[in-house]
Amino acid sequence: MAPACGGGRGRSPLSPLLACLVAVFLLLLSAAAGRAEAQLQPLPPLAVATYNYTSFQAGNSREAAELVYSKDARVYQGALQVTPDTGNAGTYRDIMVNKSGSVLLRRRFNLWRRVDDGGNATASQQAPRVQVVSFNATFSMNVYQLTAASPGEGLTFVIAPSRDEPPPGSYGGYLGLTNSTLEAAGPAANRFVAVEFDTLKQSYDPDDNHVGLNIGSVVSNKTASLAGFRIATNETTATNYTVWIQYDGAARHMSVYMDIRGRPKPPSPVLESPLDLSLYVPETAYLGFSASTGTSFELNCILDWSLSIEIIPDKKSRTWIIIVAVVVPVSVAAVAVAAFFLTKKLRARRSMERRQGRLEHQLTNLPGMPRGFEYEKLRKATRNFDERLRLGKGGYGMVYKGVLPADDARSEGMSVAVKRFIRDDSRGVSDFLAEVQIINRLRHKNIVPLIGWCYKKGQLLLVYEYMPNGSLDQHLFRRGVTDEQRPPLSWERRYAVVVDVAAGLHYVHHEYTHMVLHRDVKASNVLLDASFRARLGDFGLARVLEHDRNSFTDLNVAGTRGFIAPEYFVGHKASRQTDVFAFGALVLEVVTGQYALRADPRCPVLADWVWQMHGRGALLGAVDQSLGTAGFDHDEAARLLLLALACSSPNPGDRPTMPQVMQVLSKASPPPEVPPFKPQFVWPPEGGAHFELSDIEVSTTSGATGNGGASSAMATQDTSSDSFHPHTAPNSSEGYFPALSSGR
Ligand SMILES: *[C@@H]1O[C@H](CO)[C@@H](O)[C@H](O)[C@H]1NC(C)=O
Ligand SMILES: *[C@@H]1O[C@H](CO)[C@@H](O)[C@H](O)[C@H]1NC(C)=O
Ligand SMILES: *[C@@H]1O[C@H](CO)[C@@H](O)[C@H](O)[C@H]1NC(C)=O
Ligand SMILES: *[C@@H]1O[C@H](CO)[C@@H](O)[C@H](O)[C@H]1NC(C)=O
Ligand SMILES: *[C@@H]1O[C@H](CO)[C@@H](O)[C@H](O)[C@H]1NC(C)=O
Ligand SMILES: *[C@@H]1O[C@H](CO)[C@@H](O)[C@H](O)[C@H]1NC(C)=O
Ligand SMILES: *[C@@H]1O[C@H](CO)[C@@H](O)[C@H](O)[C@H]1NC(C)=O
Ligand SMILES: *[C@@H]1O[C@H](CO)[C@@H](O)[C@H](O)[C@H]1NC(C)=O
Repeated sequence: MAPACGGGRGRSPLSPLLACLVAVFLLLLSAAAGRAEAQLQPLPPLAVATYNYTSFQAGNSREAAELVYSKDARVYQGALQVTPDTGNAGTYRDIMVNKSGSVLLRRRFNLWRRVDDGGNATASQQAPRVQVVSFNATFSMNVYQLTAASPGEGLTFVIAPSRDEPPPGSYGGYLGLTNSTLEAAGPAANRFVAVEFDTLKQSYDPDDNHVGLNIGSVVSNKTASLAGFRIATNETTATNYTVWIQYDGAARHMSVYMDIRGRPKPPSPVLESPLDLSLYVPETAYLGFSASTGTSFELNCILDWSLSIEIIPDKKSRTWIIIVAVVVPVSVAAVAVAAFFLTKKLRARRSMERRQGRLEHQLTNLPGMPRGFEYEKLRKATRNFDERLRLGKGGYGMVYKGVLPADDARSEGMSVAVKRFIRDDSRGVSDFLAEVQIINRLRHKNIVPLIGWCYKKGQLLLVYEYMPNGSLDQHLFRRGVTDEQRPPLSWERRYAVVVDVAAGLHYVHHEYTHMVLHRDVKASNVLLDASFRARLGDFGLARVLEHDRNSFTDLNVAGTRGFIAPEYFVGHKASRQTDVFAFGALVLEVVTGQYALRADPRCPVLADWVWQMHGRGALLGAVDQSLGTAGFDHDEAARLLLLALACSSPNPGDRPTMPQVMQVLSKASPPPEVPPFKPQFVWPPEGGAHFELSDIEVSTTSGATGNGGASSAMATQDTSSDSFHPHTAPNSSEGYFPALSSGR
C-alpha cells in the first residue's frame, strides 16, 4: 500500500467522531433502558452502612470525626456523657443541674425519598411512592441517679432535622430536643422523632420509669412503663441497660427492646408503634442522642452504640449519576465535534505551517538572511498598523513607520519601515520571496537596507531601515508643505541624488552576480537617509535574471505610467533598457521639478516637453523655476537633461547603459549628443542606432498618451525626417535588445 499519509490523516478525525457519536447513542439508550427497568421493579435494594462503637474515647480521632458533641455533651470515662457527669467537679448540683446536650453522627442520612413512577398516568394520580430506610440502633446506657433525690430528666435516641446544638432552654423536661417556645409552636416546628427514656414524671407522663415515642414533641405519642420489664431506671443502684431500636422502613414500624446490658435481646419489644418517618422528619436528618437534666438530675451516659442503616444515595450522588449519564456523553460529543473541526483547522494550519516552514527554510537558507521578526512585535511597533504611521501605499502593500520595542537589545528603539503585503495568497508569497531574495543579497550604499522579515498567518511583512528624510517625490513636489517645513532641494543635492540613484541602478544591473531589474524606478521609490543620500527602495516588482538572459516577459506590464518604456509597453519585455528609460524620467523630474506626466494636456509627457525645449535651444529653461537662474550649475543641468533625454529615447538601443550614465555623471564623459527632436519609436526595436539625425525618425509633437509617447509617436511623422531606415526583424526573441553600440 502506498504510504498515503495525506489520506490517513484525512480519515483520522472522522473515525473518533463516529465512535463518539455511537458511544453517546448507546449510553443514552442504556440510560433510557435503566429508567424503564426502575419503573418495573418495586424498589431498588439499598446498601447498609454500619457504625459500631464498643466504647468512646476522648482522643479517638475517628470518633471525633464522626460524632458531633453539642452543648454540655462530653466524652468521659469511655462513655458519651450526653449531659455532664461528676468526674470533673466538686459539687454535683452546680455541674449537673439544668443541662442539655446532644451527640449526633456528623453524617447526614437520607431517611426517605419519593420514588418517581415516571409517566404512569394511573400511578401519577396516586400519592407518589415513598421509600423509607430501615435501621437498627443498639446502645447501652447508664442513667444512674447519683443521689437519693429523684432522677431526671431523661435521655433520648433522636432523629434530628439538623446538627445544631440543642436550643436554649432545652434543659429540664425538654430533653435537649426543644424548648418552651418551640414546643408551643407544635410538631411542624419540631421536625424530630425520638425514643425517650424518661425518669422524671411530668404531668403528661404515665410514670417516672417509662419509654416513649416522641414525634415533634416531648409529650410522647405512645409510652410504655418499664415496670413490667424488671427494669427500674429510677433505681439508686447503677445498672447498665441495652436498648435495641429496630425501625422497618418498608413496614413503617418501630420496635424498642430493652434489657439489662449483657443479656440477649428480649423476644418482645417494650414499645412498638407504626411510624412513617417520612411524615415527621425531613428527607435528610441526623441520628444520635440527646438528654437533659433539671433541678433533679442523673447520668445520661451512652456506653456503646452500634448502628446499621440503609443508605439512599445522596442527591449529590444522583446528580453525579445524571452528570455522568448525560453531561459526560454530551460533552464527549461536543469535544468530538470540536475535535473534528479543530483537526480540520489544524490541518489547514499545518498546511499553512508547512508552507511557512518551506518559506522559512528558503529564507533562512539564504546567505546572510536578515532576521525573522515576531508578528506581534511588528504589530506593536506600528501601533497596530496605525493609518497615521503610514508612509506609503502601493499596489503590493502598505508601508508603515514603526519603532521596534526597546526590549530588543539588537534593535532597541530603532525606527523601521514595515511593508505589509496586501495579498496573502501564493502570489503574495512569491512576491515576498522575490523581494526578500533580491534585496537581501543586494548590499549597497544606495539600496535601502532590509533588516528583517515576518511571515505570519499568511501575512507577509518586510522590515526596512527607516529613511528619515522620506522619499524623493516628497522633496521634489512639495504638496502642501512650506519652505520652512521642507526646504526645496538645492541643485547640489539634486545632482547628488541622481548620482546616487544611478550608482544603485548600476549596481543591480552590472555589479551584482545576477542581473536585477528594478522595474519600478521612480521618485517615490527613491528614499533619502539622514544625510540625504538617496537609496533605491521597493524592489517589489524587481526580477532577477540569469546572466544569459537580458529580458523578462510579463503578462501584465509592471511599473508606473510615465516611467514605462514604449517597447516594454508594447512587447511586455522588461530589460535593463526599460529601467534606464525610467531612470531618465526620474532625472527629468529631479531637474525640472515637474511630474513625468504633466498637467498640461497639450504636452502631457515631461520628456516630450523637455525635448521641445531642447529643440528650441532653450534646454535650461526646463530647469526647476524655484531654483532661479543662479540657483544651479548650468553645465551640470545641461549634462543631466541631455542624459535624461538620451535615456528617454523611445528606442531601447539608443539609450545609454548604466556604466555610460555613470561616466557622464562623473563628468569623465561629455553629455550624450541628443537630437533636437524626439526619435520615432520603431517597432520591432533594433539596436545599434546612433543619435544621428539622418538615422532617425523625428517627432515634432509629443505622444498623445502618457506611455512615453509610444504608439502615438509612430503616427506623427515629422516632415523634417529625410529618411526612414527599415529594420530587419530579429531572428530570435533573445535578440530583441542587442548590445548598445558604444561608438559614441
Ligand atoms: C460491634 O463490635 C463488637 C466488637 O468488635 C462486636 O462484638 C459486635 O458484635 C459488633 N456489633 C455489631 C452490631 O456489629
Ligand atoms: C434550673 O431551672 C429551674 C427552672 O427553669 C430554675 O428554677 C432553677 O433555679 C434552675 N437552677 C439552676 C441551678 O440554674
Ligand atoms: C401503572 O399503574 C398501574 C395502576 O396503579 C399499575 O398496575 C401498573 O403496574 C403501573 N405501571 C408501571 C409501569 O408502574
Ligand atoms: C435490623 O435487624 C433485623 C433483625 O435482626 C434485620 O432483619 C434487619 O435486616 C436489620 N436491618 C438493618 C438495616 O440492619
Ligand atoms: C427556644 O429556641 C429558639 C430557637 O433556638 C429561640 O429563639 C428561643 O428563644 C428559645 N426559647 C427559650 C425560651 O429559650
Ligand atoms: C404525635 O403527637 C403530635 C403532637 O401531639 C401530634 O401532632 C401527632 O399527630 C401525633 N402523631 C401520632 C402518629 O400520633
Ligand atoms: C421506681 O419506680 C417504681 C415504679 O415503676 C416505684 O415503684 C419505685 O418506688 C421507684 N423507686 C424509687 C427509688 O423512686
Ligand atoms: C456499666 O458499664 C460501665 C462501662 O462499661 C462499667 O464500668 C460498669 O461497671 C458497668 N456497671 C454495671 C453495674 O455493670
